[in-house]
Amino acid sequence: MLVWIDRILLLALVMVVAVLVFTSWPAAMDEQTLDGQALLVHMMASGVLVMGLPVFALFFLRYLPAKRTTSWLQILGYIATLAAGLVTIVTVFLCMLPVASTHQMHSLMSVHGWAGFMMIPAIVLLLIGTRATRSASHPHS
Ligand code: HEM
Repeated sequence: MLVWIDRILLLALVMVVAVLVFTSWPAAMDEQTLDGQALLVHMMASGVLVMGLPVFALFFLRYLPAKRTTSWLQILGYIATLAAGLVTIVTVFLCMLPVASTHQMHSLMSVHGWAGFMMIPAIVLLLIGTRATRSASHPHS
C-alpha cells in the first residue's frame, strides 16, 4: 500500500514538474517573461506543486533514518528535490511581498528559473535512488 502511495506521489511530482518545465522552457530560452496560455498553465501547475511538495516531503521522510537497504542516491535526490522546490517557491513568494526592488525581483525570477530546472536532475536522482532502494529491499521481485 505504502509503495503504491510512493509511486502515485512520484508520478504526480514528475507530471507537475514536466508541465512547469514545458510551460516555462520556451520563455527561458528566448530570455522572455512568461505570458498568455503558458503563464496560465504554469500558474495552475505551480499551485499543485506548492500544495503537493509538503505532502511528498512528509511522506518520504520515513526513508530518512537510513536503513541498510536505503540507497544514498534516494536520500540525496530527496533532499535535492526539496531544496530546489523550496527555492523555486520561496523566490516567487518573495516577489509577492513588498520587500524586493524591481531589480531584485528580476534576480529572484532568474534564481526561480534555475532552481526550477534543477528539479529535473534532482528528481532523476530520486527516481534512480528509489528504484535502487526497492531492489535492495526486495532482491527477488
Ligand atoms: C519545476 C518548476 C518550475 C520551473 C522550471 C519554473 C520556471 C520558470 C521560468 C523559467 C520562468 C520565467 C522567469 C523569468 O521571467 O525570468 C517562470 C516564471 C514564473 N513562475 Fe515558475 N517555474 C517553476 C515553478 C513555479 C512555481 C512552483 C511557482 C509558484 C509558486 C511559479 C511561479 C511563476 C511565476 C508567477 C512566473 C511569472 C513571473 C513573471 O514573468 O512575471 N513557478 N517560471
